[in-house]
Amino acid sequence: MVFKKKAGAPAATDRAVPQHIAIIMDGNGRWAQKRGLPRTAGHAAGGETFRTIARYCNSIGVKYFTVYAFSTENWKRPAEEVKAIMSLFNRYLREAIEIMEKEGISLRVFGDLAPIDPELRELVGRVNLISDHVEGMQASLCINYGGRDEIVRAAREFARRCAEGEADPDSLTEENFNSYLYTDGVPDPELIIRPGGEKRTSNFLMWQSAYSEYYFTDVLWPDFTGEVIEEAIADFNRRQRRFGGVV
Ligand code: IPE
Ligand code: IPE
Ligand code: MG
Repeated sequence: MVFKKKAGAPAATDRAVPQHIAIIMDGNGRWAQKRGLPRTAGHAAGGETFRTIARYCNSIGVKYFTVYAFSTENWKRPAEEVKAIMSLFNRYLREAIEIMEKEGISLRVFGDLAPIDPELRELVGRVNLISDHVEGMQASLCINYGGRDEIVRAAREFARRCAEGEADPDSLTEENFNSYLYTDGVPDPELIIRPGGEKRTSNFLMWQSAYSEYYFTDVLWPDFTGEVIEEAIADFNRRQRRFGGVV
């Protein structure tokens, strides 16, 4: 499907649009249950919402859009549900390969891909190759992602380099630690939105969210719209970010 870049974007206002917005895409299961549908129908609907909101964010000038799609803890779910979610990833990556250049949105996957299906891993590799030369917003899909897991992996990799004499323990700083994370080169999210009514982070972007502003809403992810993004941005614009200082 061809999508006009500015379609649906509101008239320019004086609001500051965060350069990086992250979303915990929650509420798919409850959305389906409310309609008497299987939970997997909620994930399918949530996938469509992901695409709509990624396009919306691109149209208003967001530079990085990161979504939590499958956590390191989500393997606890019934095998059938996990399988349905993985096949949706397969489908969306395939479709991304066809449309990302045309739409000017690059796609990255953050997370430990070792336990996922080799076919899906191969698709991630193809998506990465295309993303290397796509200008425009970077959408990042967090799959088998856990904030603690990400930090432990970074620590392990740094320790390995030290043991091999390639790094010096005293050289590690808050700034260069980021280069060991999936978000290497990506600025921290200014705004993290959680739909679905829960008020917790569920292990999302633990390092990167140190000074993020959170916006919680009861809207379930499949019902999420550009208007909700606008409400979150408006709320973000009313906040005073002090970063520990005084204003
Ligand atoms: C979020 O929706 C999607 C994933 C965690 C994969 P849920 O499936 O958690 O939906 P609820 O929270 O049960 O409604
Ligand atoms: C968080 O949602 C993970 C994703 C949206 C991928 P969960 O539904 O897994 O979170 P909890 O279990 O309510 O904390
Ligand atoms: Mg949930």
